[in-house]
Amino acid sequence: MIAKTRLGVLISGRGTNLQALLDACAEEDFPAKCVVVISNRPEAKGLERARAAGVPRVVVDHTLYPSRETFEDEVHEILREHEVELLANAGFMRILTEDFVNRWRNKHLNIHPSLLPAFKGLDTHARALEAGVKVHGCTVHFVSAGVDDGPIIAQEPVRVAEDDTRESLADRVLEAEHRLYPAVVRAVCEGRVRVRGGRCAIKGAILGSSAETGSE
Ligand code: GRF
Repeated sequence: MIAKTRLGVLISGRGTNLQALLDACAEEDFPAKCVVVISNRPEAKGLERARAAGVPRVVVDHTLYPSRETFEDEVHEILREHEVELLANAGFMRILTEDFVNRWRNKHLNIHPSLLPAFKGLDTHARALEAGVKVHGCTVHFVSAGVDDGPIIAQEPVRVAEDDTRESLADRVLEAEHRLYPAVVRAVCEGRVRVRGGRCAIKGAILGSSAETGSE
């Protein structure tokens, strides 16, 4: 039996990245175990995925809290109760305060559907098409105080086709996200990711050669 890192996941919606993480965690040799899923939205489809996987799920509805801080204190308390060691945002749509971010520094991941630092924020696929980029993709990074900001751990490029629509591009990027996120969680849990001076140094490959070289 390998030692497993206790993973907590924050969601707000459909949870396909959560599903990719749950599927990975179900494998015997995966070095993380998902111990709690927290949603800030009661209607999030991802909650059903957690239930189906037998993982405790908790709704912390941000609309019921008087401030960002009180909402985050509750989230933090639940993470502590479940002894979470590594936290992953998977389509979590709340901006977090610096206090929360500092409490989880270098133990908190986010996945973003663009090759950061390009296209931070929302509507990344439409904006990539509008800008005419030839290569788009996704990024997993440690969370820091800025939106979609923080040391980049790995990226997977996705080539943009001339006839791509926002939907077709989004579908291919999502497939890449589902490969990349579990691979990064594995590398972090295996102690192969170090942050130095705001940048990540990675030991070994994350996803074969593509995440490291930027080639497909
Ligand atoms: C993903 O594209 C993720 O990169 C972004 O929000 C989307 C969430 O999708 N942060 P899902 O809920 O994981 O299906």
